[in-house]
Amino acid sequence: MPRFLDHFPKLRHIPAWFPFGGFKKYARESRILIEDLVTRPFVQVQKDMAEGIARPSYVHDLLSARNEEGHSEDINNEFAETVKWTAGSMYGACAETTYLTMTCLVMVMAMYPEKQALAKAELDQLLCVTRLPTIADRGSLPYIEALIHETLRWHIALPCSLPRRTAKADEYRGYHIPEGTIVLPNVWSIGREGYDDSEEFRPERFLGNGEPGYVFGFGRRLCPGRLLAMNSLFIMVSYILASFEIAKDMDADRNEIPIQPKYRDGLIRCVSSSVSRGYILG
Ligand code: HEM
Repeated sequence: MPRFLDHFPKLRHIPAWFPFGGFKKYARESRILIEDLVTRPFVQVQKDMAEGIARPSYVHDLLSARNEEGHSEDINNEFAETVKWTAGSMYGACAETTYLTMTCLVMVMAMYPEKQALAKAELDQLLCVTRLPTIADRGSLPYIEALIHETLRWHIALPCSLPRRTAKADEYRGYHIPEGTIVLPNVWSIGREGYDDSEEFRPERFLGNGEPGYVFGFGRRLCPGRLLAMNSLFIMVSYILASFEIAKDMDADRNEIPIQPKYRDGLIRCVSSSVSRGYILG
């Protein structure tokens, strides 16, 4: 429904009572959900600050610095709105993308135990099983880096990226694209182009050989959280692989249950929960 409205924005003028006007209700409900998503954590930080128990955070740091400056209430309210929405945008853009990439990484480790063994061997060689990895180890673990790159390519959290509108008319391979056209980049296809074995999970394709930067978008709207995302994925996967072996779940006769990845529809590509029960950390 939202994608449909993106393509035909004039539909927003149709009254809610009109047949097929159900998207207005959908939009109203979605707005409430988004307001809730950004407001609840913000209010919680304000409450914790009032009780003196707030932990360090983006919202806490900005609000405490502002409180010391003593501005008028209007300016402070406007400031609070900006902090609330920037924090909410970061959370909304960061949480599902990073979490779902990580879920997929755990799933492929169970599906491809030979790749997991290679990653584990690299970690064991560097850490000598005496300590856990740190971010400073990132440059010394090329297979783990390639593993993350291949997961980002193989799974692609946002297969159609985000919609954008052309600022002026353009020509592309003989096609005329008028000004104001809404364009959805087919990132899924970009991630498959040029490989004969694109459906294979093969981290080796990225060993010393570039990275799938396209998964983080293009141009001015390129994901501002990509460096944080790469660090987060690195620390999570290297901690997990240094500490656990990931294996397929077993049935009552101790036979491995094969994993058939299933995904849910939506803006963000998400491994469905029935599959995530198909493997274990052991
Ligand atoms: C695996 C993790 C992530 C992936 C795959 C990802 C991917 C993307 C993509 C494809 C876009 C759209 C870019 C475009 O339109 O060209 C985007 C936008 C964005 N991302 Fe990420 N992202 C990830 C993690 C993060 C993190 C950790 C943060 C922040 C803490 C973040 C913050 C944002 C924000 C704020 C935008 C909107 C930028 C704008 O519209 O101008 N992302 N991301």
